[in-house]
Amino acid sequence: MPALLQTELADLHLHARGKVRDLYAVGESLLMVATDRISAFDHVLASGIPGKGTVLTQLSLFWFDFLAEIVPNHLITANVDEYPADVAAHAEELRGRSMLVAKAQMFPVECVARGYLSGSGWKDYQATGKVCGIALPAGLRESERLPEPIFTPASKSLDGEHDVNISFEEMAARIGRQTAETLRRLSLQIYSRASAYAETRGLVLADTKFEFGRTAKGIVLADEALTPDSSRYWPLDGYEPGGPQKSFDKQYVRDYLEEIRWNKRSPAPGLPDEVVARTQEKYFEAYRLLTGETLHV
Ligand SMILES: Nc1ncnc2c1ncn2[C@@H]1O[C@H](COP(=O)(O)OP(=O)(O)OP(=O)(O)O)[C@@H](O)[C@H]1O
Ligand SMILES: [Mg+2]
Repeated sequence: MPALLQTELADLHLHARGKVRDLYAVGESLLMVATDRISAFDHVLASGIPGKGTVLTQLSLFWFDFLAEIVPNHLITANVDEYPADVAAHAEELRGRSMLVAKAQMFPVECVARGYLSGSGWKDYQATGKVCGIALPAGLRESERLPEPIFTPASKSLDGEHDVNISFEEMAARIGRQTAETLRRLSLQIYSRASAYAETRGLVLADTKFEFGRTAKGIVLADEALTPDSSRYWPLDGYEPGGPQKSFDKQYVRDYLEEIRWNKRSPAPGLPDEVVARTQEKYFEAYRLLTGETLHV
């Protein structure tokens, strides 16, 4: 199975290409197609991971359904047979990796919930003793579980640059206090449900990023949800605070890129077949662990 790096649905109106997803405008809706592109260190790599887009879409669908009682989401349908006729013409390419979603006015904030100290949170904490302005007890170690989950928003970069952590006050100034409070409450509620579930499946959900938007139906959970691309999952078995944990999905990719001493500037390199194969295995394993089902593509 070759990797799908880009879709070219010439008869549809291309709305945007993100690092991973191609979006097409379909009337008032959006067709969101997850390709097999993979990014690392903020760059899309020259190689894709075959089937990755399907894993991301199917996992998001799993979580949308799991969370339906807590939060409405942007999904209209992921069944290609229910797509409008001009879209359904591309059924074979779209099946499994796409969703028709309600076009939302996206809030320009990445809603991050963290239950563990890692990544930019760990960096912040080392420098300031806080994460996004939230004071934490002294003496916490890298990857340590926090006394309680925290909400640490980031500004959504518009130019593909790195997202920057912001305080809750800054978020409130940008999108309004009431909306900011709603997004914080939803993010923490979702995190707490999802992390408790993930633990029963042998995974630590260290942190995760949500994107919310506004539609005619009000605030909805949009984008992808709780995938290995938007979340830090660690195997519970072998979890050991006091240092970094092996990232579940992109560890081989990052190790390889460090090994070849890529300067992290364009053009991004491709990956050897073995790194692709091992990474692919990790994405499918994440799906299998979380859902209990094996995904066939
Ligand atoms: N319901 C929705 N309505 C409008 N935009 C959406 C919706 N759901 C997700 N999006 C946007 O679609 C894009 C998804 O593509 P992708 O995840 O590849 O982008 P990204 O690389 O993460 O971010 P960027 O858009 O900054 O490149 C994101 O910009 C996201 O904000
Ligand atoms: Mg994204």
